[in-house]
Amino acid sequence: QEHCAYFSYFAWRQYTLGRIIDGSLMFDQLLKHFQNVKDRRIISLFDQDKKRAMNFSVLQEDLFLDFSKTNIDRPSLELLINLAKFRGISEARDAMFRGELINTSEGRAALHTALRNVEGTPIYVNKIDVMPSILQTLEKMKVFSDRVRSGQFSGQGGTITDVVNIGIGGSDLGPAMVVKALAPYHDGPNCHFISNVDGSHIHDVLSKLNAEKTLVIVASKTFTTSETMKNAKTAYDWMSGAVNEPSQQFVAVSTAVQKTDEFGIYRDHVFGFEDWVGGRYSLWGPIGLSIIIAIGAEIFEALLNGAHEMDIHFKTAEIAKNLPILLALIGVWHNQICNYSTRAVLPYDQRLNKLPSYLQQLEMESNGKSVDLDGSLLDFHSAPVVWGEAGTNGQHAFFQLLHQGTRIIPCEFLVAAQSHEMYLDHHHKSLLSNCFAQSEALMRGRSFEEVCSKLSNDDVKYDEFADQARHRVFPGNRPSTTLLYPKLTPKILGKIIALYEHRVFVEGKILGINSFDQWGVELGKELAAGLENFLTGGSENTDLNASTQNLVKVAKSMR
Ligand code: F6P
Repeated sequence: QEHCAYFSYFAWRQYTLGRIIDGSLMFDQLLKHFQNVKDRRIISLFDQDKKRAMNFSVLQEDLFLDFSKTNIDRPSLELLINLAKFRGISEARDAMFRGELINTSEGRAALHTALRNVEGTPIYVNKIDVMPSILQTLEKMKVFSDRVRSGQFSGQGGTITDVVNIGIGGSDLGPAMVVKALAPYHDGPNCHFISNVDGSHIHDVLSKLNAEKTLVIVASKTFTTSETMKNAKTAYDWMSGAVNEPSQQFVAVSTAVQKTDEFGIYRDHVFGFEDWVGGRYSLWGPIGLSIIIAIGAEIFEALLNGAHEMDIHFKTAEIAKNLPILLALIGVWHNQICNYSTRAVLPYDQRLNKLPSYLQQLEMESNGKSVDLDGSLLDFHSAPVVWGEAGTNGQHAFFQLLHQGTRIIPCEFLVAAQSHEMYLDHHHKSLLSNCFAQSEALMRGRSFEEVCSKLSNDDVKYDEFADQARHRVFPGNRPSTTLLYPKLTPKILGKIIALYEHRVFVEGKILGINSFDQWGVELGKELAAGLENFLTGGSENTDLNASTQNLVKVAKSMR
């Protein structure tokens, strides 16, 4: 990026973004358009277009996406849609669904959609139809979960009361998020999730459980992830201390059957899947074993059906009404065109409080890249920093910055029209009001004059106005989108997750990157292995930087 210094910022962005599409003027046009409109008030767009609320929103059966509170107008939307067409989104999408090897750096397909292809229509990878084996594994999951839930499969001390999923990243975040989100449907054993190699995590979970009635799921695509393997070994030792046959209460979910054998998992306790299911896209198959045990096969199928419906929508809807493509285009507008480098995900849904972490992995591991598909350096920013928290909690923490900070952070609100707890409907009305009030406040703001007039009504002395008023001004004009749905049912949750998966894919495609590898996690893993050796008494690693060596020495002296 050294050459950037030689250009003015705007010239640089025009130059670099133009390269994404090999000289096409589309990004240039978008950047120019943004320069022309960046200072206008979003709220003024509603005066110009009386039907803006309708024109800049999409109802897709039970999902309603409102993006009217952004600075996107007709010309920018048209330019964005043209960009999607030019980047070949439809062709890329069809190639993904067909099972082509679109994960080029690993020579793999990206076929998570096959896991929820409930109709079972054939899908070929290397000329082999993968559907029979997917449906067979799904059947095995159903049978096993039924047996656990009914008590037919029991622990050595009786019916299974607790299930512990040991996994990390995609082998943890998806299942943990869904189990939490679908709490009203949870009628199976309690589910616990252990991910962190920090011993306090496994200690705090296992110390409260009765090993004789616990089922442990070791969930790891590779069965080599060091945190998971260490936790699995500790759990096995814990189980061994309580029962005669620890392996009877262990199951594994993995693509590496050889390694599950070596660990000592019985073959009929292994739920396999293929390497073309990426970790962060894997909750729909065996990695979702904890989910199906918690909610049962029927409800798990509703989750799959919802995702499948979104797949069909993604495949068939025109771009202007295609939710994943629209969300991606809004993302590109905010990140690459407006240069807003982070995005806040704000589910006004306590049961979706793990969604921001889940989406962090989905988006940042998929699209946080520096090279394009050909390995050429990107000259522009890739994924934004995705972060967030459930509303209304965030309002009393970081919303101050969203409203009055110097950075503009596009916000994504999600909220259900109705809660599961009808007797607490008055809570839900407060939740909805807060959600809608925040997007209104972010857009509307409050001017100096408005503050002064309010202060005068509040009986503040005139000579104190100016000082006080400046602190109370809200700049406003801060963009947000809202995804509204009737109720957080399994089907709707399935649709929402698939919506985000496809959005990430489209964003990646527009930027020309491979959304399905994650080489950026490797270096830290390698270095950690060497450091552990040093910490446990091995020789000092002089390849390490002096700061790191010193940190190890100081830590050793403190231990
Ligand atoms: O290190 C990153 C990562 O590979 C993620 O992509 C993945 O979801 C996670 O680790 C867990 O991997 P595994 O399921 O192979 O244990």
